[in-house]
Amino acid sequence: MIPMTVVLVHRDDHERAQLRAALEGLPGVQIAGERDDLRAGLALAHQARPGILILDMAPPVEEVLNGASQYKLDHPDCAVFLATETYDPEMLLRALRAGAQEVLRRPLDRGALREAVERAGRLAAKKNGGAGSSTRSVITAFCNKGGSGVSTTAANLAISLKRLTAREVALADLDYQSGDAAFMLGLSPTKSLGDILGAARIDSASVQDALIKHPCGLHVLSQPDHLERVDGIKPEQVASVLDILQSTFDLVVVDAPHVFNEITLEIFDRSSTILLMTEPSIPSVRAARRSLEIFQKLNFLVSPDRVRLIVNRRGEQSAISVAQIEETLGMAVFGTITNDYLAVSTAINVGKPLCSENNDSRAGRDINALARKLVPSQTLEEPVEPVPAKRSRLRLFGKG
Ligand SMILES: Nc1ncnc2c1ncn2[C@@H]1O[C@H](COP(=O)(O)OP(=O)(O)OP(=O)(O)O)[C@@H](O)[C@H]1O
Ligand SMILES: [Mg+2]
Repeated sequence: MIPMTVVLVHRDDHERAQLRAALEGLPGVQIAGERDDLRAGLALAHQARPGILILDMAPPVEEVLNGASQYKLDHPDCAVFLATETYDPEMLLRALRAGAQEVLRRPLDRGALREAVERAGRLAAKKNGGAGSSTRSVITAFCNKGGSGVSTTAANLAISLKRLTAREVALADLDYQSGDAAFMLGLSPTKSLGDILGAARIDSASVQDALIKHPCGLHVLSQPDHLERVDGIKPEQVASVLDILQSTFDLVVVDAPHVFNEITLEIFDRSSTILLMTEPSIPSVRAARRSLEIFQKLNFLVSPDRVRLIVNRRGEQSAISVAQIEETLGMAVFGTITNDYLAVSTAINVGKPLCSENNDSRAGRDINALARKLVPSQTLEEPVEPVPAKRSRLRLFGKG
């Protein structure tokens, strides 16, 4: 979630303190200021331009509604939340007319508040989407069936995005059950998510400290060698780590666990794109159909480009064609990756990713094409290669 600033206006000190405490407990939320009176609060908001303005419906209610609707006219991108004791259809209608996005009931329900803030964050992220170079994306590779090429795709896509864009890219291996993204890239996880969980707190310092760097400049958050170190990882912890990565990197690629649970839901909520991986086989397409049913229930299919279907191991001999997959799933295939056993296994065995320099495999080309399609405005024609630090140092010594 992008950082979200809040201005809080509430006449009641106790209620205000409670709201503040609840908001401060949410990842990415910053209180830009608080006031106990409407006029002062609106003045502050005009200055601070928060992402969310919370107004208490203190009598005279008319004044609050007028203030809210005027503020919304001046700052249409701000999400206005109205806090109220009376919660009836007439009041809801008036709040809606005043341009409120959410109505918070008393007593405070922290879960409802968190959801409201997340909705506002998602909406803000969507409005900011396509805003050019400032666009930040979280691209999550997922399959509810193991062994479908999630790690291969996530790891190589991250390398490809790093090489094809001039951006800061991170690969987050959040598959706490398997955890082999670093291995796919020929890296040994000297540091990992285990270190973040072992740190006193999850903050940008502990996350930064746990990243390892691939020679191409990609940052990798790996799973630990011993998966017991992340046993019992909580959804909130995964959420905080991802929030921090998202605020630090332009592009974050996630290798997601192969289940629908609270952890994957936190990941999906933060993903601008979910790559649903499938293979041209009947069990695989059936699994994809089950995922799509769940995504439908979770409202992830409302925006047409949030979930993208990827067919891995495409081949001449496949049991099912791409057209048949599209027909069965009722969704267009966004990208395909060739079945390329030799290239994929060699890449892993020699620790040289498919999408590295001079690796001209079919599967690697397919993943590069996928990268270009995912962030078309950010990819450059020619890959951007980092200056190899070792060689330049040698040259420097040679000169001296
Ligand atoms: N396009 C491909 N062509 C040939 N082999 C592939 C391809 N993609 C993946 N593989 C192979 O399939 C196996 C599973 O791939 P991968 O580990 O990427 O899948 P996963 O979904 O992450 O599985 P896991 O359940 O282990 O997390 C690996 O041995 C990999 O080398
Ligand atoms: Mg995997």
